[in-house]
Amino acid sequence: MIETRVINTAAGPIGVEVFGMTLDITRDDDVRRQLTETWVDKGLIAFRGVDGPEIQIALSNIFGPCVAHPGRPMDESKANPELVNIRYERTGGDVYEVDGVELGAWLPWHSDLIYVDRINHGGVLRPIKLPREGGATGFIDKIKLYETLDSELRARIEDKWIYYKWDLDIAHQRFAKRSGAKVIQWSENRREMQSRVEQYPVVAHPAVFTQPETGRKVLNVSPWFALGIDGMEGEGGHALLEAVAQHCVDERYAYFHTYQPDDMVLWDNWRMLHCGAGIPADESRWMARTTIQGDYALGRLADVTASIDDRIRVNV
Ligand SMILES: [Fe+2]
Repeated sequence: MIETRVINTAAGPIGVEVFGMTLDITRDDDVRRQLTETWVDKGLIAFRGVDGPEIQIALSNIFGPCVAHPGRPMDESKANPELVNIRYERTGGDVYEVDGVELGAWLPWHSDLIYVDRINHGGVLRPIKLPREGGATGFIDKIKLYETLDSELRARIEDKWIYYKWDLDIAHQRFAKRSGAKVIQWSENRREMQSRVEQYPVVAHPAVFTQPETGRKVLNVSPWFALGIDGMEGEGGHALLEAVAQHCVDERYAYFHTYQPDDMVLWDNWRMLHCGAGIPADESRWMARTTIQGDYALGRLADVTASIDDRIRVNV
């Protein structure tokens, strides 16, 4: 009924491609079970040969109900309030310079919503308008990152908690910061979101957790938004988290999905880091995404006083 093919990186398999999905098949219990098991097992599914909002929402709902993204509330008056448009245009868009090249649709490696205490379970991305080149979404499997982390670093990070705070300004990124990247232009929306940065408290997430269905450990570190290690606010903590974060952005483990017009990509946000690889700044890229509900129930508001937060800031 459906066919699958393993996706490979230079460092081994990551996710699967699925062929043959139709709207009817999304209602088939055996297929739903197979896809749910694959999602847990692989964390990433690229659906080929599917298009349109209806099947995007139906596919998303196999894995859970869709929810609003805190930064982009659902508009219930719209035909498909589950869908959020992610639209890049040079005029009024977020433009970065990365290694001397101006890019739109570029984002550092991160986990969605790691800066709040409840992390959504995943999302489905669908292209609406693709650029002539570029525009890939990168994925790195955090189970693979745990398995391949240097054993001494693993022992030191294993029981730690990481502080995070929402801050969209890449100039403020503290760990595994992409050298040679800077903001050229911010969109109105991004400026408005950044103006609310102080409304978001510091939160903490465990550096490692166990995937309940399989017992595999996940290196739960998002380089973007990380502030530091709970209880290790000094230089030693910074050096440890920097070393772990550098491992997390090692692109030998990455898969970059280059979209075809009839693709959709599902990822497990608890399991996969992702990034926007960017497009030439004069190109356009429109995507529609869903946000799949769920919470791994391990995040917490950090009991961090202003003085401790300030100390983390000062030390970096
Ligand atoms: Fe994201």
